[in-house]
Amino acid sequence: MIQPIILAAGKGTRMKSRLPKVLQPLAGRPLLAYVLEAAQAVTTTLPLVVIGHGAEQVKAHFDGPRWVLQAQQLGTGHAVQQAAMQLDDGAVALILYGDVPLVQPQTLQDLVSLVDAQHPLALLTVELDDPNGYGRIVRDAHHQVVAIVEQKDATPEQLAIREVNTGMMAVQGAHLKRWLERLDNANAQGEYYLTDIIRFCVEDGFEIHTTAPGLPLEVMGVNDKAQLAQLERAWQHHQVDALLAEGVTVVDPARLDIRGTVTVGQDVFIDVNVVLEGDVQLGDGVHIGPNCVLKNVSLGEGVQVHAFSHLEGCQAEEGVNIGPYARIRPQTMLAAGARIGNFVEIKQSSIGAGSKVNHLAYIGDTTMGTGVNIGAGVITCNYDGVNKHRTIIGDDAFIGSDSQLVAPVQVGEGATIGAGSTIVKDAPAHQLTLSRAKQTTLKNWIAPRQRCKG
Ligand code: UD1
Ligand code: CA
Repeated sequence: MIQPIILAAGKGTRMKSRLPKVLQPLAGRPLLAYVLEAAQAVTTTLPLVVIGHGAEQVKAHFDGPRWVLQAQQLGTGHAVQQAAMQLDDGAVALILYGDVPLVQPQTLQDLVSLVDAQHPLALLTVELDDPNGYGRIVRDAHHQVVAIVEQKDATPEQLAIREVNTGMMAVQGAHLKRWLERLDNANAQGEYYLTDIIRFCVEDGFEIHTTAPGLPLEVMGVNDKAQLAQLERAWQHHQVDALLAEGVTVVDPARLDIRGTVTVGQDVFIDVNVVLEGDVQLGDGVHIGPNCVLKNVSLGEGVQVHAFSHLEGCQAEEGVNIGPYARIRPQTMLAAGARIGNFVEIKQSSIGAGSKVNHLAYIGDTTMGTGVNIGAGVITCNYDGVNKHRTIIGDDAFIGSDSQLVAPVQVGEGATIGAGSTIVKDAPAHQLTLSRAKQTTLKNWIAPRQRCKG
């Protein structure tokens, strides 16, 4: 049994934020969410999460983990001591950090698999060009790990060591509990260092095995906004690389941001300054123009989204054409070949196959048939100040420019609505309906500017 223990009690003072550090967002999700996900990928055992600063705020964000309160932050060893009571003797404790979010399941699997009866402790270490700030891995002449020395306690020779402690380790439960009891805080920071158990393990005659992460970003920690921004960039690059490997054309990998999961077909094209959020599915040949935001959308084959469009919670079938400057809001369904043009807002509506809403329109709470033409400036008046009502437009209807459809209302199949109409009653199929004051021209009328000329 693997028991993840996630340390997340620290204050994150250097963030200078009211939001606890582990709730700071990376690609739109709290740091801690990533660690929980990685833990859950290697075991079904609920993680123990040690919290302290902002405990209530952190708890409110997540269901599932078992929370352990560390009221005072007396060091990483002290933090693990708080969780030890809930650790089975037979379990392997997998110690993770709430502020090192991108460790991958495979790396954790590799780490845990190093633990057996002869090797009760395994470490995740990494070689850094600049080891500043990290605990150094001290090895003997036979290359065996003998200790971890914290930066502030290290000798000048030890400071030159480039192999560092990532903090993550896997430790057999009964041994861990025994070693935790021996910790003291007689060191430069007056803290109970978890890293002191390495020495105890060696004293007990065990060899320590180490493994390295697959990617450098897996062990990058976040202490301030600069590191958060660095990690964000590194993660975005990593995600975009994965899309490139799948054959997507990304015009500038530095100008695509993914805050969720993206699945793609063949020959997808993504222009600059695009943000993809939530669950995004892009079919074969989808083309996304510059400066678009897509959140929870599914686009069928050959869909084109032109510049500056904002799509959320919508589905578009093959050949749909959207934008530029379109706004599609949640629960919208665009059937094959539909065309949504510039400065059009659509909300909670279904637009039938081949229908066109090309210019400056608002379509809300509407069920629209196929082959409909919506003129420029048409508005569905779906809200009476208290309730929302639906508009139903039959196949092949033609709604003249600048008309208002006051819901609840139905426009029949093949009906025509004259331009500038305010439609408050159902309009019958195949007929022209219009509501418009008669046009008049006043004869003998003299404009003031002409009168002055006298
Ligand atoms: C720790 C390691 C160091 C390693 C580095 C990697 C120790 C003594 N040192 O140092 O060898 O190179 O991580 O980043 O373990 N935390 C608590 N309660 C506490 C103290 C810390 O929950 O009382 C949590 C923090 O919120 C943080 C993590 O533990 O998520 C690490 O604590 P931090 O003080 O940042 O450790 P470092 O000094 O960086
Ligand atoms: Ca510290």
